[in-house]
Amino acid sequence: MAEASCLFDLPDSAATEGLGRALARSFPGAPAVVYLRGELGSGKTTCARSLLHALGVAAPVRSPTYTLVDTYSVATLTCVHVDLYRVQTTTEVEELGLRDMTGPGYLMLIEWPEKGGVAVPPPDLVLQLAYQGDARSAVARAASATGEAWLEKLAIDTSLAPYVSNLT
Ligand SMILES: Nc1ncnc2c1ncn2[C@@H]1O[C@H](COP(=O)(O)OP(=O)(O)O)[C@@H](O)[C@H]1O
Ligand SMILES: [Mg+2]
Repeated sequence: MAEASCLFDLPDSAATEGLGRALARSFPGAPAVVYLRGELGSGKTTCARSLLHALGVAAPVRSPTYTLVDTYSVATLTCVHVDLYRVQTTTEVEELGLRDMTGPGYLMLIEWPEKGGVAVPPPDLVLQLAYQGDARSAVARAASATGEAWLEKLAIDTSLAPYVSNLT
């Protein structure tokens, strides 16, 4: 049976980066949309950066806080890194044309998806990061068949075994 969600305890940044790398290894292939949720500083960009580098992005991955959308090409895959923290109106989000950057060949990672409203493409995978004192936790939830395939592979990634907190 497909995993519905995976819970991880991430004691330090290296663990968050490890989760990003594991997400890259278990990536079932485009198209896919990932929501990265959680407070400022909870590790969304840290996770996205390590995922993108592990997929083969050689360029530095910065927070798209000001650019809102950054794209990276790796062979036939286009990775789109979005941060909606600073958007004020749904019109602004519509003008980003996010839906034109989904579909075959596209992987989209969206920080602060909840700020975007209806112009935000629906997720396949939702990663919820949270503070646990100085550490962090992460819950990965599948939101589509693609997400389920992704989680199924993620759940058996042995590099994450030290961080797996629970399986539901
Ligand atoms: N599991 C963790 N435990 C402690 N610190 C972490 C962890 N994961 C990431 N960090 C640190 O917390 C900060 C998170 O920043 P960032 O990834 O930019 O967060 P966000 O994009 O959610 O605002 C970075 O300084 C990073 O090194
Ligand atoms: Mg960020």
